[in-house]
Amino acid sequence: MSCNILAIESSCDETSAAVISDGKILNNIVATQSVHEKYGGVVPELASRAHQQHLIPVVAEALKSSGLDKSSLSAVAFTRGPGLMGALLVGGSFAKAFAYALDLPLIEVNHMEAHVLAHFIDTPSPAFPFICLTVSGGHTQLVLVKSHLDMELLGETSDDAVGEAFDKIAKILGLPYPGGPHLDKLAANGNPEAFTFPISDMKGLAFSFSGIKTAVLYFLKDNIKDDPEFIAHHLEDICASVQYALIRMLMQKLVRASRELGIREVAIAGGVSANSGLRTALKEAAKNQSWNVYLPRLEYCTDNAAMVAMAAHYKYQAGQFCGLDISPLAKMKI
Ligand code: KG4
Ligand code: ZN
Repeated sequence: MSCNILAIESSCDETSAAVISDGKILNNIVATQSVHEKYGGVVPELASRAHQQHLIPVVAEALKSSGLDKSSLSAVAFTRGPGLMGALLVGGSFAKAFAYALDLPLIEVNHMEAHVLAHFIDTPSPAFPFICLTVSGGHTQLVLVKSHLDMELLGETSDDAVGEAFDKIAKILGLPYPGGPHLDKLAANGNPEAFTFPISDMKGLAFSFSGIKTAVLYFLKDNIKDDPEFIAHHLEDICASVQYALIRMLMQKLVRASRELGIREVAIAGGVSANSGLRTALKEAAKNQSWNVYLPRLEYCTDNAAMVAMAAHYKYQAGQFCGLDISPLAKMKI
């Protein structure tokens, strides 16, 4: 009998559902919440309300396009954490009720592990053990992936996540939310050596991104004194220089981790892995460092339920189910 799992993702501002059948993703329906744009950041209360509104239509579309009937499902999976508590509660409560009503087993998934496991949706997939740099709006982690279900955190950010740095700097520059993709586009036409921003180097495999945000702020204030239109006159060069510094900070730790562990299988995951500069830097490292590198397809970089479904597939095979009394976790370790 085939194994069909419905997976739900609702940890931040994307409401998503996907169906996986015997390890093959059948679809990945994502409803992006535009309500946050005018606030310049995700408003947790509004995110919960939007999940509540979008979830059932998104699940209905995923089931319909899979061609499967509810009765042929083998399990239901959901993102337990980390994420916004209210947002997680909506997806989690729905998954629990759905599992209860249909008498299906329930699978809880760690969102950060799911980002890593997005690498098993398409082939070729990385070979174990590999190092994954998971970079998103809330996290910046270096992970040693020993198997589908055995991961070890090697290092993480001590302050802001790199996606947060992209978004906050983009906001200072007057770009719309989320700023990361806008900054990326503008950077493509700028000179990365036009301006110099500090490259922090924390001890070991830890990251720090709060310094660059402050540095950009002071840099702009200084220059605006002489030229009130400084940002408009140099926007592309500023974006390219900021992006260059952020990528340098990520790559230096990735290189260090690879050398320390003697591992040349290297992957990136999470929303910021969609960044064109980071993708290019990784491809260059494939040559310079003799790495085998893995980049997820763009739709599997940012939040999506297909990655949750992939994680659930491995948990199902390992018999890792949870009870209906489970609660979401805003903070959840890898
Ligand atoms: O993984 P994700 O969708 O959500 C979280 O789990 O946080 O990541 C969202 C983050 C945002 O900070 C967004 O600006 C960033 O990923 N992002 C990018 C790009 N695309 C998304 N940052 C830089 N360049 C991009 N192309
Ligand atoms: Zn994410």
